[in-house]
Amino acid sequence: MLHKNNTVPVSELFRADPDRGRHFCLRDGPWCLDYSRLPLDRDGLARLSALPGAVNLTRSAGELFSGRIVNPSEGRPALHMALRGKLPEVDVNEDVEQQRRRFLDAAGRLHAGQTGLTDLLHIGIGGSDLGPRLVTDALDGDDSAVRVHWLSTLDSRRFDRLIRSLDPARTGVVVASKSFSTTETLMQAQAVRNWLGGRFDDQAWAATARIDRAVEFGLDEDRVLAFPEWTGGRFSLWSSVGVSAAARIGVGPFSDLLAGAAEADRRFSQQPDASSLSVMTALIMHFLRRELNLPTLGVIAYDPRLGLLSDFLQQLIMESLGKGVDLADQPVHAATAPLVFGGRGTDLQHSIMQALHQGPDSHPLILVGSLEDRQARPEWQRAQLANLLGQAGALTHGRDTGKAYQHLPGNRPVALLLTQALDARGLGYLLAGFEHAVYALSVFWNINPFDQWGVEEGKRLAGEYERLLGEKPVDIDELPE
Ligand code: F6P
Repeated sequence: MLHKNNTVPVSELFRADPDRGRHFCLRDGPWCLDYSRLPLDRDGLARLSALPGAVNLTRSAGELFSGRIVNPSEGRPALHMALRGKLPEVDVNEDVEQQRRRFLDAAGRLHAGQTGLTDLLHIGIGGSDLGPRLVTDALDGDDSAVRVHWLSTLDSRRFDRLIRSLDPARTGVVVASKSFSTTETLMQAQAVRNWLGGRFDDQAWAATARIDRAVEFGLDEDRVLAFPEWTGGRFSLWSSVGVSAAARIGVGPFSDLLAGAAEADRRFSQQPDASSLSVMTALIMHFLRRELNLPTLGVIAYDPRLGLLSDFLQQLIMESLGKGVDLADQPVHAATAPLVFGGRGTDLQHSIMQALHQGPDSHPLILVGSLEDRQARPEWQRAQLANLLGQAGALTHGRDTGKAYQHLPGNRPVALLLTQALDARGLGYLLAGFEHAVYALSVFWNINPFDQWGVEEGKRLAGEYERLLGEKPVDIDELPE
């Protein structure tokens, strides 16, 4: 049974091309991207790789790395690459180096227990939360003097339960906010300041591009770990927004993360073509979204350390590519961002995979995993890998028992993203690679990946509703329109 989007069953493509597995696979840095299970034959792959946008990526990469205005609606460059390695063509390296030294110094003292603090509250949301939380979850070596607690959305029960369990004399706080104006972050920062009282001055830091607002909030300037305005929120992991992550995983691993990202930067700036992880990922996402017209994309981690990768990619992909006008301010008459979903591999085999195997709709997946983890129980690690391969096989080849209710159509697009052993450098390489994949896609689609005007109206209306709702109890029959 052919799925409506595919012309030839992928099983057939494998049978017709014994070398398919090797040909539809690339090694880049510590990662292997296997796209052999996509409904693409060799001609299709050649055509995809010759996509016009992919051909002039060198110029676009040059604009990005040389500090050109690649975010025209805000009149800014996008220089997050400078946060992890020197950019020869732009004059920001000294300031960035000094800012990096400051936040890594604070992180090192926290990690080593030199601050006397045992707990660190990280208050931030979106890009001020997702990247650092992912990195901490993935690379936590359990050797830090501080436990990090992540506070993003407003959840007063969880907040109050958490601070009841903590000693204000031993608890620090990082207020992470590029704008230092995000309501959720400032409300929680105010609550922590009230809880810490006089201790706040010596136990609080801010990670922000707005030093003025952090000082206005009540932080001494020497407690403000600044980063540059040209850092996009969803690209700020590499800046002082990462201070809590570095405090937990250690300055060494965080520096390795930066080094891995810098390697991916060099790879993209020097040879942005289909032989690279970032460009091939962009081409695959283009193929799935605009040629197969599939509106979703699942990222499922079969290395539990990457369980938060899909959360990070949700923001990176959907906030960067979820646009409706092009760089000429004209409506885009084609699909843009997919709806990104995901989580941890075998968990999702007990929730969403039934629909993905037998439902009428095709939801493409990227399965991410590692082949070895020296700290893990070998048989558990092996079971994760076996499940990754099992799911990929069933999605690709399906199953026909002759009974319709047991039928799996197969031909469900799935790509594998594997590394031999996940480490900080490899994670840095992967995350920076996805950043460049998103940028490459924005070039193919001629859209601005670095602004996010779409989130402003909801925030404005929320402020109006807060005033309308006032302080009195609200009756469900009296909700404002
Ligand atoms: O979601 C909108 C957004 O501006 C994101 O781009 C950003 O990561 C998040 O809100 C938090 O913003 P800030 O770091 O300024 O608090």
